[in-house]
Amino acid sequence: MARVVIRGFENGPYEVNVDGKAIYHLCRCGHSENKPYCDGHHKKVEFKAPPFELEITK
Ligand code: FES
Repeated sequence: MARVVIRGFENGPYEVNVDGKAIYHLCRCGHSENKPYCDGHHKKVEFKAPPFELEITK
């Protein structure tokens, strides 16, 4: 079974990580011009959010 972890980077995007490999970086700030993916705009808008980590298991 794959180990799936969703991370929220401090002041940055969500990372979808499968078996230790980052698969996607998804926009968390709402300002990406390439949604649903992060394009770095969170830095320009000085997005603030706490880090978190969630492991999904079945
Ligand atoms: S989190 Fe990076 S552009 Fe939104």
